[in-house]
Amino acid sequence: MRTHHCGEVNRDHLGRVVTLCGWAHRRRDHGGVIFIDLRDRAGLVQVVCDPGQAETFRTAETIRSEFVLKVVGSVRPRPEGTVNPNLPSGEVEVVAAEIEILNPSATPPFLLDDEQLSENVRLAHRYLDLRRPVMQANLKLRYRVAKTVRDYLDRHGFIEIETPMLTRSTPEGARDYLVPSRVHPGHFYALPQSPQLFKQLLMVSGFDRYFQIAKCFRDEDLRADRQPEFTQVDMEVSFMDEAAIMGLAEEMLREVFQRVLDVELPQPFPRLSYAEAMARYGSDKPDLRVALELTELTDLMREVEFKVFREAADMKEGRVAALRVPGGGALSRKEIDEYTEFVKIYGAKGLAYIKVNELAKGMAGLQSPILKFLPEAAVLRVIERTGASDGDLIFFGADKAKIVNDALGALRAKVGHERGLAVNEWKPLWVVEFPMFEYDEGNQRWQALHHPFTSPADGHEELLQGDPGKALSKAYDLVLNGWEVGGGSVRIHRQEVQSKVFEALRIGAEEAREKFGFLLDALQYGAPPHGGLAFGLDRLVALMAGAESIRDVIAFPKTQRANDLMTQAPNVVDEAQLRELHIRLRQSPVREVSQG
Ligand code: AMO
Ligand code: AMP
Repeated sequence: MRTHHCGEVNRDHLGRVVTLCGWAHRRRDHGGVIFIDLRDRAGLVQVVCDPGQAETFRTAETIRSEFVLKVVGSVRPRPEGTVNPNLPSGEVEVVAAEIEILNPSATPPFLLDDEQLSENVRLAHRYLDLRRPVMQANLKLRYRVAKTVRDYLDRHGFIEIETPMLTRSTPEGARDYLVPSRVHPGHFYALPQSPQLFKQLLMVSGFDRYFQIAKCFRDEDLRADRQPEFTQVDMEVSFMDEAAIMGLAEEMLREVFQRVLDVELPQPFPRLSYAEAMARYGSDKPDLRVALELTELTDLMREVEFKVFREAADMKEGRVAALRVPGGGALSRKEIDEYTEFVKIYGAKGLAYIKVNELAKGMAGLQSPILKFLPEAAVLRVIERTGASDGDLIFFGADKAKIVNDALGALRAKVGHERGLAVNEWKPLWVVEFPMFEYDEGNQRWQALHHPFTSPADGHEELLQGDPGKALSKAYDLVLNGWEVGGGSVRIHRQEVQSKVFEALRIGAEEAREKFGFLLDALQYGAPPHGGLAFGLDRLVALMAGAESIRDVIAFPKTQRANDLMTQAPNVVDEAQLRELHIRLRQSPVREVSQG
């Protein structure tokens, strides 16, 4: 139907007759001449309709936004002064000889170049939203990333193998999406939270190097970087240790950035132990673009009278830490109050601070509501440890370590970006030496920090029973600019070690057999040492696209409330369908009109 794409017409085509197909992006009537910006996948070109061409002109007059057109015309230079340097086709225009309306359009619910569009309106009409050049670019970028990943893994001997969507639940820590079985009344499949167990079984089967660009399903609270269904670049290999697996994944990421964005990521990526990441950044996914670090004060604050600090320092899992903000002395009372409100989201009870006005004046050169509670010696040690100088501000966190880390860790990133204390660079890193378990206070039991199939670090097997909190694992996370974009581990390949881990998690032998019997069995038949990892493709692409939410790089995403505003899923179903599935509802559902 066409000779060229709209966005590709340029000086090279001057004088040529072209046939273009696309959408009327904008139509401008300049008293006598009509301009139509014609848009297709490749971009925009300006079409000029001259009253001299009477029939064409009459057609042009009826054209409205988003009509689908076929235009035949000749390419000429734009008149002096009307060149648009922002468009690849901006030096030329197409003088229409013929215009055919292939399909008119109803008035669209929004203008595609409206910058203030609400996301809900966009999602309800996603097929129109996806016409916007930015969304087209995002999905093309996503494709390029996936293609580069496939090429890389193919070159390295990986084969792509699909694993089931209708399966039993894999314990990745989230709630499962369940699918009722018609054939087996009262029985349910679970949608996979990841292909974890299947890829391990593929190693037992001897495939050696597996990958899959796999859909995963997790029923958890949604945020900007979480969707109920999302995509992993999932990999598993045999006979490789952590260092080799991380090396391979790292090289893949470098290749993706190099080929898709022409960006050279650092080589090698820095590595931080989990303990160090928590101590210095209060987070296991630190944003290393931000130059700020936490300062440990727990030991120091055991000596002071100030109850807020001393009680936290004396707590079993307590921590007192400081965050020095260079130039933070300029923060207003209102700004400090806002940061105080911000840390409360993370459970902090307050946000003490000291402004360092003039160190030469000693205590008199400092300004703070807590100075009166702290002895001069302690204050001087704080100044010394944080390295604070005139004009700085020091924030304090004192509570259970988890609260202090969450609060000051998040504050560090926020203040860093808001106060211009961050560099505009790509900052990947590996976080390693994760603990095997974390204690779940609510349920009074240990939980796997990664998943229960992760191998303990060499020499840490004995700790599984004796001191589970101290046991480290062979897990690793890949962090990029403060986002966890990937994670994995070397797995347990011997059945007796797997049983010990289940024991530590208080998964009894019977339960383990019932839930993971197939894995335990498989491990008996010569399972090779193996390990792997999974990248969150949506997160990776969102970062690369500079998008704020992974929704912007997913063609048909769900809202924060897990709705699809376009198809109106989830929705009620017929009584007959339920009956066939042996399901009776406890309450008849109120039919919702979902709005986000
Ligand atoms: P994990 O649970 O860490 O590991 O998931 C791997 C990566 O997937 C991404 N991710 C998500 N992205 C969007 N929405 C979500 N709800 C979501 N949840 C996770 C993250 C994360 O780093 N089976 C293991 C991998 C392994 O051990 O090989 C696993 O699933 O970027
Ligand atoms: P208060 O004695 O409760 O008025 O607190 C004195 C100062 O300490 C205020 O600036 C509070 O914001 C701050 N503060 C209170 N609790 C904490 C805490 N757990 N961590 C850090 N600062 C706190």
